[in-house]
Amino acid sequence: MYVMNTLADVWSCFTANFYKKSSDIPSNSLPAIAKYMADTSKNVLVMAGAGLSTHSGIPDFRSPGTGLYDNLQQYNLPYPEAIFDLGFFVRDPRPFLSLAKELYPGKKYRPNLGHYLARLINEKGKLLRMYTQNIDGLERLAGLPPEKLVEAHGGFSSASCISCFKEHDPDETREAIFRGEVIRCTNGKCKGLVKPDIVFFGEALPDRFFLYQDDVLWADLLIVIGTSLEVYPFAAIADEVPRDVPRLLLNRDVVGSFGMRKHDTIVTCDIIEGVTRLAKELGWHEELMELYAKHEPCM
Ligand code: OAD
Ligand code: ZN
Repeated sequence: MYVMNTLADVWSCFTANFYKKSSDIPSNSLPAIAKYMADTSKNVLVMAGAGLSTHSGIPDFRSPGTGLYDNLQQYNLPYPEAIFDLGFFVRDPRPFLSLAKELYPGKKYRPNLGHYLARLINEKGKLLRMYTQNIDGLERLAGLPPEKLVEAHGGFSSASCISCFKEHDPDETREAIFRGEVIRCTNGKCKGLVKPDIVFFGEALPDRFFLYQDDVLWADLLIVIGTSLEVYPFAAIADEVPRDVPRLLLNRDVVGSFGMRKHDTIVTCDIIEGVTRLAKELGWHEELMELYAKHEPCM
């Protein structure tokens, strides 16, 4: 799906990138990229994954030992990713449905400093968009406005039939899942399986993912946080930003093509430590802590 742009849009985007001065491009250190972010950058693109929510108590997928894919023994799966595989779901929906009970967003999980940093970037007028693979809804809970957010792998706030795509009531779907029932479509004779609209392997991403395809052209800084960049098409965004756009990675491991570009900055540490260091370099640390404390009183 492509989005039409006016010629003026295309022209101003082209000239914005063409006239970017080489002196604006930071060298590869956190202080340098923070200075660029504070002084120059206006269109920060953020990409996030499950690592962002581990400090909220939600395990990621691929961390050895603690990741979800290492802890699915009770479901007797042929391979761990089968739990989110559409073909497998059709054969046996029960493993996913019982895991879904655990994954449903609720009062149990709260946003952490990383989510609030994204909000603060937006409040400073610098956030172009945040793309998240997370289905926990914590970005919205942290107060990121919907128009700035792309939940690339969907979420639990809607549900539909995997055969005829009829929308089903998300609350009824949740209640049925909590009762341990397999839900069947009520559209005529369909009887297809119904599940929350989280994207499975073998399914298309939501239309919204393709709505802002030119974000990569507008971005003047990319921040990648807490993702292995192993799942496409999401991971491709990191390579679609032009080569002269600085990229900052806050993650325990070096992932994707990070390190292969001149303007890459890699901070391999715990997310909260990375976020705290970045906020301090930006001179935003106090504000970030205030924002967090205001909304999350039990620190
Ligand atoms: P992964 O589990 O693949 O990657 C999480 C990344 O975050 C890893 O590189 C970890 O090292 C890092 N990480 C975790 N905790 C951290 C911490 N406290 N500090 C620093 N780094 C930390 O998760 P995703 O990349 O989000 O898809 O996985 C992508 C997709 O694969 C998910 O959306 C899901 C899954 O299959 C679907 O459900 C369709
Ligand atoms: Zn149906």
